[in-house]
Amino acid sequence: MAIKNAQLYEQVVLINEYLQNIVGTIESGVVAINRAGHVTIFNRAAEQLTGLSVDAILGRAIAELPAPLRQPLVATAEDGRARVLAEVELAKPGGSTLPVLCLTSPLREPAGGLLGAVAVLSDLTALKQLEMEQRRAERLAYFEVLAAGIGHEIKNPLVAIKAFAQLLPRKFLDEQFRQEFARVVGREIGRMEHLAGRLRSLARPGGGPHRALDLRAPIADAVELLQPRLDEKGIAIRWAPGPNPCQVLGDHAALEQLFLNLFGNALDAMEAGGALSVRLRSTEGRMIVEVEDTGPGIPDEFLPRIFEPFVTTKLHGSGLGLAICASIANAHRALIYATNVPGQRGAVFTIEFPVEVAASTPVRA
Ligand SMILES: Nc1ncnc2c1ncn2[C@@H]1O[C@H](COP(=O)(O)OP(=O)(O)O)[C@@H](O)[C@H]1O
Ligand SMILES: [Mg+2]
Repeated sequence: MAIKNAQLYEQVVLINEYLQNIVGTIESGVVAINRAGHVTIFNRAAEQLTGLSVDAILGRAIAELPAPLRQPLVATAEDGRARVLAEVELAKPGGSTLPVLCLTSPLREPAGGLLGAVAVLSDLTALKQLEMEQRRAERLAYFEVLAAGIGHEIKNPLVAIKAFAQLLPRKFLDEQFRQEFARVVGREIGRMEHLAGRLRSLARPGGGPHRALDLRAPIADAVELLQPRLDEKGIAIRWAPGPNPCQVLGDHAALEQLFLNLFGNALDAMEAGGALSVRLRSTEGRMIVEVEDTGPGIPDEFLPRIFEPFVTTKLHGSGLGLAICASIANAHRALIYATNVPGQRGAVFTIEFPVEVAASTPVRA
């Protein structure tokens, strides 16, 4: 009997050592607490992530743990529910912070009673770095497309202006030339001014400060501005704002610009007799605007690229309209995408605005 007990004890010690070894060597930080609020496990990785030594923490009260770890652990030990904190910031010596993924789980006895909670921590620094590099690469690619496009757009008018300027000394007395000069140079400078204006909106997509506003207002203003062109082309507008407020956080002028660009494209796409429909609806946590036309729709091969700058299928298009829409949407944390109306002609542009921010912010005049 005594020998059997001794063997069992040895086995328990071995298993315990084995588990300690695993907890001690894994890359993730492991921190456990019991119901009395004392720290029962604090492994080597947890030491490295928090900068605290196991000797100073183990067996001590949970108050010794950094607050961002303490709160989810205590919460899980109290209600037995697991928690996922996608990005906890742990303070590092020197004032910087370490991004950490924190998963907590309840620790239970076999009968189900709560014994405490355990948190597993993973260092997200490498992942963040990768994310940043990817974003930088994307920005660079965007910048290259933008720079090439601007270069191209400026070159054409410059070539025309230069040619006329070179002829000017010789043909100065030619009345017809002077008229032609004024017409062409004026037109080409106008084109560059237009480009400069578009680039400015691309650079400041969010417009002014974001306030709580009703989405029906910028839509109504854009419709009103476009009404003469709609009438001229004989296109019906289907826009019934509805009685309910549609509040989001945003900049009125920037949003009006977004809708103007979308409506302008729809107009360009349609023949006389078409219809432009604008719908506004809210679902859980989102305010959704749909802009639908009865034009030919967007060719499949263009669909993935239309939001890129300088992508245009029009003879005199700038290809910047939708790029501006995308940056305005982005500045409003809204999602914008295009589809073709299934089973019929026409394109639909959808913008999904988040509303949870607006709900918690008081309305300002
Ligand atoms: N409503 C629409 N119907 C069909 N094609 C569209 C529509 N809106 C945009 N497009 C396509 O997307 C391209 C890019 O649009 P945009 O960025 O506004 O530039 P632009 O209007 O100067 O061409 C357009 O040239 C057109 O091919
Ligand atoms: Mg356009």
